[in-house]
Amino acid sequence: MGVSKLFGDTRALEHIDFRVEDGEFVSLLGASGCGKSTLLRILAGFERPTTGTVQIYQQDVTQWPPEKRPTNLVFQRGALFPHMTVRENIGYSLKLRRWTPSRIDARIEEMLALVRLDGLGDRAPSQLSGGQAQRVALARALASEPRVLLLDEPLSALDLKLRQQMQLELRAIQKRLGATFVFVTHDQTEALVMSDRIAIMNNGRIVQYGTPRDIYRRPNSVFVSDFVGATNLLSGVVGSIDGERIVLQTASGAFAAPKGTEQLRKGERAVLSLRPEAVRLHPGTGRTAEGSSVSGNIAEIIFQGNCVRIGTQILPDATIWAELRDDEADGLTPGDPVTLSWAESAAAVMKEEPQ
Ligand SMILES: Nc1ncnc2c1ncn2[C@@H]1O[C@H](COP(=O)(O)OP(=O)(O)O)[C@@H](O)[C@H]1O
Ligand SMILES: [Mg+2]
Repeated sequence: MGVSKLFGDTRALEHIDFRVEDGEFVSLLGASGCGKSTLLRILAGFERPTTGTVQIYQQDVTQWPPEKRPTNLVFQRGALFPHMTVRENIGYSLKLRRWTPSRIDARIEEMLALVRLDGLGDRAPSQLSGGQAQRVALARALASEPRVLLLDEPLSALDLKLRQQMQLELRAIQKRLGATFVFVTHDQTEALVMSDRIAIMNNGRIVQYGTPRDIYRRPNSVFVSDFVGATNLLSGVVGSIDGERIVLQTASGAFAAPKGTEQLRKGERAVLSLRPEAVRLHPGTGRTAEGSSVSGNIAEIIFQGNCVRIGTQILPDATIWAELRDDEADGLTPGDPVTLSWAESAAAVMKEEPQ
């Protein structure tokens, strides 16, 4: 723990303290270049940390080579050996481990069934679709029963439909095996759908680590709330804090939110984050019963298929986006005066700058 990694002058990782429980599915989520692959390679043993230690199952493995560790790494395009059949690919590492041929055969069949490729064992990699090839790569990595599987963007080369299907399959496989998976992705939806916990990374640091619900509902920084899902941000000054409630004074009014875990002081600059799906829209400018409200005029209406996004200008330089069902947006036109409202509990207040 306390892992850092320097490549020359590039600080790829900075003081990472990160713990995964046995049997958990954890995602490392962050933009390209934030250090996800480096962290995964350090866990796998392909890189040594510049400082800090790595422990797996109570053992300090920092100096252990990859093959001694109870881990296996699957890459973005899990390159299969092109001259071997699917079966030979899956059995490769078992042969190296000198398993008996009958035991290898039995395990290969088991793995083919697990990734639902029974009957394709004799094909060459060139005869497989992208999704099938990726499933073979997965079967190959799982064949030797690693207790920890490390996956570096294994689905990012697949198209959307297949990726969504593989997300569910991968999660099901992990549950069935009870193995620990550490999964790297830059796709926030993928991380939300698949994980027990998500570590959000930015500039070589883990900026928040929590369940998908926690991360989505209680982001601890503007960076996290903006990175995970769409959000409205209103900046202001902390007006009062009492017990579990914090009030932010903004140019468009005072808005309350539950007090998060963050230490904010009265008078400090802070930002209110509000998810578009939590915003309700009422025609006209009358007051509403619900928690917080603000009035404005509709500036933009964007049809997105499964929902409609409506931008309401509440100040010359501030727009709040609401996400409505198509039928709820019927009859609305740009320019209409509207009132927006939301439950106090739907808002989150956080420091203006990421820590
Ligand atoms: N072998 C390397 N040599 C030099 N710099 C590297 C090397 N590997 C990664 N980096 C740098 O470290 C940072 C993190 O990279 P990486 O872990 O691959 O990010 P990610 O997987 O999140 O896209 C980047 O700035 C990258 O350029
Ligand atoms: Mg990477």
